[in-house]
Amino acid sequence: MVTAEGLYEKLKDIHVGNPVCRFTEENCQLLLPTIRRIEELKQEKNAIILAHNYVAPQILYGVADHTGDSFGLSKVARESTADVIVFAAVRFMAETAKILNPEKTVLDPNPNGGCSLADGITQHDVRRLRTEYPEHTFVCYINTTASVKAECDVCVTSSNVYKIMERIENDKIFFLPDRLMGENIINFLQKKGVHKQIEVYDGTCYVHEEYQPESIDQVRRNFPGSQILVHPECQPSVVDKADYVGSTTGMLDHVRNSKKDTFFLLTECGLTGILQSEFPAKKFVGSCTTCKYMKSNSLEDILNVLENPRPENTIELSSEVQKKAVQCLERMFEYAEA
Ligand code: 13P
Ligand code: SF4
Repeated sequence: MVTAEGLYEKLKDIHVGNPVCRFTEENCQLLLPTIRRIEELKQEKNAIILAHNYVAPQILYGVADHTGDSFGLSKVARESTADVIVFAAVRFMAETAKILNPEKTVLDPNPNGGCSLADGITQHDVRRLRTEYPEHTFVCYINTTASVKAECDVCVTSSNVYKIMERIENDKIFFLPDRLMGENIINFLQKKGVHKQIEVYDGTCYVHEEYQPESIDQVRRNFPGSQILVHPECQPSVVDKADYVGSTTGMLDHVRNSKKDTFFLLTECGLTGILQSEFPAKKFVGSCTTCKYMKSNSLEDILNVLENPRPENTIELSSEVQKKAVQCLERMFEYAEA
């Protein structure tokens, strides 16, 4: 059971510059009644809480049963025996859990949790593109709605995108919706001598597209020997200068296994917070930025959704969309696990 002391122990080292992320023992004590009530409701309803690495630390350390990146959490959702899955993240991640578990109740405490990538393309756009590129295999990033996944052949996440793109048999691929990730894939495959004809859609993550290569030069000058970790949603000029490129959990594992003591992460602040908590002896330099969608999750909304969900909190998909989208996701698991 979570105690105020235990929670404070986990949260005390988090100081990513955001005032709401500075915790005292008193703050933790104040969070306890909500956390306890959430725990009771989880038991009562046989519910689990999945939380993405970017959400607020009081959710990650206070109530989450599983934390991780989009691939890891999809796998947990796929294998779960719970009756109810509460997904603290953004809408497309909760939708993914529902695609994989059509018979379970999937609750989204943050129904306005968009994503600039997922919101930038519709199923109609994909249908139109498929008529323009009839010979292409359509690969979608997991940051897409269920109805977009339903129109695509294979899904990928940041943890498996390079591997899957390389393995796809067809040399003609349309990758959507992240243009920068698409450009990074093209560069990666070219460096490996793999020649594929890859078309990319013009979407971006509003958080990751802002990072500039100059900040890496500056950190390397000021902190020689530091490790630079970047997410593949960043620009190629940023990715080119990195020591490690991968998903949020990939970055966490990289820090865990690294002998270096100084790191600069170009990704959302939530991950920096987890790393500060897990590895207090290591140093995390530079600034991070927040995703307003991920950060709009709160303990109160999680409590409300378990106690009294509103219609917009419950993920509903048409059976046609679910049946088509699940094939796109299952192909991802096949390629990723092969
Ligand atoms: P991860 O799968 O790496 O956690 O990424 C999801 C995401 O939205 C990154 O911005
Ligand atoms: Fe979407 Fe970017 Fe937020 Fe990730 S960080 S959820 S890609 S807007």
